[in-house]
Amino acid sequence: MSTAETPLPAPLRAEILALAAQELHPRGASVAALRLVQARFGWISTAHLCEVAGLLGMSADDLDGIATYFNLLFRRPVGRHVIMLCDSVSCWIMGREPLCAHLCRTLGIRPGETTADNAITLLPTVCIGHCDHAPAMLVDNALHGDVTSATLDQLIDTLRHAP
Ligand code: FES
Repeated sequence: MSTAETPLPAPLRAEILALAAQELHPRGASVAALRLVQARFGWISTAHLCEVAGLLGMSADDLDGIATYFNLLFRRPVGRHVIMLCDSVSCWIMGREPLCAHLCRTLGIRPGETTADNAITLLPTVCIGHCDHAPAMLVDNALHGDVTSATLDQLIDTLRHAP
């Protein structure tokens, strides 16, 4: 089984090199390469980040600066599903705080944590551009708006039973 410590599989390395070859400078493929790693492993371990940096001819520190800039790239393990609840102003005005408290109570975790069954990670995020349907969130990159505690309960139930 592949883990965060397993070297990147050869096909994935080849895919990253192919992406890099399309760029003026290989580093132009940084985000796309990191997304490939995350899609494969669920997050980007330091070992994998170093490997990608080597493939792209850049330092691990430079690549880490890119990885940590984008909040959709995860540098720590996450659960099978990730809820990113917007904490910017429109969502805050429209009741984001009570929703976050409801989520934390229901899941038994705080923002930034993952449930004990590894099903769900709860993360805050800045505005996701869905302000006209605040409060809003991303669930596994899918946009959800006009969120209520009832829709959250339904969603949690679905996510807990999803692979
Ligand atoms: S403020 Fe939450 S989506 Fe814009």
